[in-house]
Amino acid sequence: MSRKIMINVAWPYANGPRHIGHVAGFGVPSDIFARYHRLAGNDVLMVSGTDEHGTPITVQAEKEGVTPQELVDRYNEVIGDDLYKLGLSYDLFTRTTTRNHYRVTQDLFRILYAKGYILKKFAPGAFSRNGRTLPDRYIEGTCPLCGYGEARGDQCDNCGKQLDPQDLINPRSKIDGEPPVFRDSEHFFLDLTAFVDPLKRWIETQHHWRTNVRNFSLNLLENLQPRPITRDLEWGIPIPLPDYEHLPDKKIYVWFDAVIGYLSASVEWAAQTGDPEAWRTWWQNPDALHYYFMGKDNIVFHALIWPSMLIGYGNGMAGSLGGGSAEPLNIPHDIVSSEFLTMEGRKFSSSRGVVIYVKDVLARYDADALRYFLAIAGPESQDTDFTWAEFLRRNNDELVASWGNLVNRVLTIAHKNYGAVPQPGELNAADLALLATMEGGFAAVGAQLEAANFKAAVGATMRLADAANRYISDQEPWRLVKSDPPRGRTVLYTALRAVDCLKILFAPVLPFSSQRLHELLGYEGSLSGTLGFKQVTEEEGRSHRVLTGDYSRRVGRWEAPQLPIGRKLSEPQPLFKKLDEGIVEEELARLEAHT
Ligand code: MF3
Ligand code: ZN
Repeated sequence: MSRKIMINVAWPYANGPRHIGHVAGFGVPSDIFARYHRLAGNDVLMVSGTDEHGTPITVQAEKEGVTPQELVDRYNEVIGDDLYKLGLSYDLFTRTTTRNHYRVTQDLFRILYAKGYILKKFAPGAFSRNGRTLPDRYIEGTCPLCGYGEARGDQCDNCGKQLDPQDLINPRSKIDGEPPVFRDSEHFFLDLTAFVDPLKRWIETQHHWRTNVRNFSLNLLENLQPRPITRDLEWGIPIPLPDYEHLPDKKIYVWFDAVIGYLSASVEWAAQTGDPEAWRTWWQNPDALHYYFMGKDNIVFHALIWPSMLIGYGNGMAGSLGGGSAEPLNIPHDIVSSEFLTMEGRKFSSSRGVVIYVKDVLARYDADALRYFLAIAGPESQDTDFTWAEFLRRNNDELVASWGNLVNRVLTIAHKNYGAVPQPGELNAADLALLATMEGGFAAVGAQLEAANFKAAVGATMRLADAANRYISDQEPWRLVKSDPPRGRTVLYTALRAVDCLKILFAPVLPFSSQRLHELLGYEGSLSGTLGFKQVTEEEGRSHRVLTGDYSRRVGRWEAPQLPIGRKLSEPQPLFKKLDEGIVEEELARLEAHT
């Protein structure tokens, strides 16, 4: 029976091109998961978009000397291009500056406020001399505890203590070096204390979460406080209350609006499919399971804050979105969080040039090579280092030498001798054993993918390719085609069947090469469907580009395909490129040139 799998992917800030650490966390894992579930015949909705508000945007806009709007327009496009080239198969990748997103965000704010879950309080804030808010991490000064001269407003990197900006001695703004002005300002707070009990009861039973995510979330529950959800900023979504709506410099805090993106993007997706109510079958139907993918710095927002908002919103009174029905909204089923990727032993840092952008990798290497590396060697359950040497080794020794070589050997002999899938004789024990191993692979690899164990899934698939390689070496079909033609045909038939199975098993991770192999094997149609851009128009002549796809006409299925006997084979071509050892030094030199 087909299941409904909703895949909610963290929204990248539109403040610069994405580096491979970003896509290692939210991008590649979520896409493998989506592609697997579609192949398995499940109903998938995968949404995300660029996160376009908050100080990450305003600070960068100031640096580049452009307006926030210009900045997000630029990077929404750059990021969309990256994700497209990487083959991330979103149903909708949109933006947080759409009117639709404003409406949905304001609706949640209004309802949570009306229900008493949003409180109004005064809170001290730091401002620069021109009146702009100064986020804590943009204030620098001397640590009152250890005397370190470059402590930040939120913490001291020397003694590790949490600080408030007011604690710093000689505080100054990192942006203009001037001392900040502190004053009280009225703000809205989400009353998280109201949700501690339901959150606790819920998280305690989530044994399928990764242990670190569950423990981390339970710990945070111990001292939940009301959390500010507005900021003194000009750039952001207006506060939808009569006295605040028109204030030019008090807006909804970026994190409050960003998490709502999952819901608003579903609403936008529904409108685009021509059935504006279709989002309900994903959000108001307990059978739809919601998975969230992100880096570990995002856990608190997805495990505590967003669920609180969902519980509060769905509880009792309907918002305008609910259309009069107060049905609860689905809370997360799983929070799949990744650890961090480092880069040649250092932390990624765009400002210090320790960075490899997705677009630069994809200009020089294939998307599947990067996807493979991030899936098999990414930071799935511990921090992990990206090195070019390891990238080269994984590409050459695994992708090329194992899976690529298997395909190449089998297709070359079969194409040269028969030009088509040969008619086998009776299959012997070795042939049957190989096919049974491949068929068994679908359940085994599928179970790992369902559990979001991507490393284990890809590792197991590679071992199946190794088994097929051993079969070829044992059977020596290149000899049989001359010495024993009937047996030669049987072995090549068996090997082609194995390759055809592996094509599907690898498809979630290596969608581009699996599609090419699909065509080399003489099949037509798209294994997993196709993605592309679309322009969407909203009111007031506003329009924005979204990344979307048509996955309904896919022909791939998560099971052993029945490769038809006699089907013509195309001229074989290598699936992967062997990389020259020299790229390691080249890339390291490139990196040094930037740091
Ligand atoms: N923009 C945030 C980041 O890059 C992630 C936002 S995830 C969302 O860390 F759920 F809030 F959208
Ligand atoms: Zn200190």
